[in-house]
Amino acid sequence: MNLYRRAAVGAATLAIGGLLATAAPSAAAPSPTLAAPDIPLANVKAHLTQLQSIASANGGNRAHGRPGYKASLDYVKGKLDAAGFTTRIQQFTSSGATGYNLIADWPGGDANQVLMAGAHLDSVSAGPGINDNGSGSAGILETALAVSRAQLKPDKHLRFAWWGAEELGMVGSRYYVNNLPSTDRSKISGYLNFDMIASPNPGYFVYDDDPTIEKTFKDYYAGLNVPTEIETEGDGRSDHAPFDSAGIPVGGLFSGAERSKSSAQAQKWGGTAGQAFDRCYHSSCDTSSNINDTALDRNSDAVAYAIWNLAGDGTPVPPGDSYENTADVAIPDNGAAVTSTVNVTGRTGNAPATLKVDVDIRHTWRGDVVVDLVAPDGTAYRLKNSSSNDSADDVVASYTVNASSEPANGAWKLRVQDVAAQDTGYINSWKLTF
Ligand code: TRP
Ligand code: ZN
Ligand code: CA
Repeated sequence: MNLYRRAAVGAATLAIGGLLATAAPSAAAPSPTLAAPDIPLANVKAHLTQLQSIASANGGNRAHGRPGYKASLDYVKGKLDAAGFTTRIQQFTSSGATGYNLIADWPGGDANQVLMAGAHLDSVSAGPGINDNGSGSAGILETALAVSRAQLKPDKHLRFAWWGAEELGMVGSRYYVNNLPSTDRSKISGYLNFDMIASPNPGYFVYDDDPTIEKTFKDYYAGLNVPTEIETEGDGRSDHAPFDSAGIPVGGLFSGAERSKSSAQAQKWGGTAGQAFDRCYHSSCDTSSNINDTALDRNSDAVAYAIWNLAGDGTPVPPGDSYENTADVAIPDNGAAVTSTVNVTGRTGNAPATLKVDVDIRHTWRGDVVVDLVAPDGTAYRLKNSSSNDSADDVVASYTVNASSEPANGAWKLRVQDVAAQDTGYINSWKLTF
């Protein structure tokens, strides 16, 4: 069962918020329980062996503008094409050389909710870049291949990306974000970044950006009993930064770079205090020996865990499901409109032509009250007008709204305004039934 969107009857707020937090009063979201696959460490390491060979055959690096970069891209693309992904290469120019991003879409899922995972595939010119960032590249590649092996049919549309020229200042990822039409940009519900996930003296750092993504990674690590810390080694130093700047929810994992591990960190994670997380950062010794297998294994599994849980497992949500908010909201006398929100997630397509709206407003003179249903895009549907001669109490009523032009998922609001002085009341509860 997909707890991200199937709700227990009787909970205070039946629907659970999506990646974008809303101001809804809500019960605590249940923890995700979807079974993500174990990502085979041997497969991830086999990709690193290939990237090492590519570097060795091409002057010792896989840097932007060098043949080792394009060979790396072709290797990853070949695996994805064979697994049924729709791939495209996006070209750009930087420092007088052609750069390439590789974008791989898994067919299916809700095109209006795109979950992305990305890693930079370029190295610095000083070395082969196996931890930085063969590790992230191989981790998301093997997760993509696991999506294919599972023939996953997630609620969300999945997109994987391998960025060029990150080491020149996130050039490829910025190019991608800047060239996305704004309508496409708004459909990306989250971007997960993996840059250095197998540092030889590893730390376990989680980005603290989008709370839902952060919690997903923390839940995974809590399940392993491995403590995590918030990533602070230079926020905005990787490919999530352009997404974050564009207002897209981001998150990610990091195992540390040139900073040194403290004794407290060595206590909880093992490894060597007073030594860099990655002594070979940006140097020629960032080879296939510069990898901590345990960190690579855990972080690769964490990639899969996050994709599986954040994308939903595609279990159809049957008609008849309700989404309710039972938190009281006071309605000020002859004052501003107030709202109560329910978050609808995990459905596909539009709301029905017979969307049922059950309203329970307690009031001492219901003629004062104007009630609208507000769709996630802001479209208002009038449920009830005010009327000066309706002196009865309360609005306890069921309305049917033709909401068939509205995508089902999103934050729906009941908006209530009291437009005449003296009598007041509150929203007791309301419920949407699809
Ligand atoms: N992006 C850096 C690089 O590729 C590595 C890095 C340093 C990093 N600090 C970070 C990545 C924090 C993610 C988060 O050289
Ligand atoms: Zn990097
Ligand atoms: Ca009033």
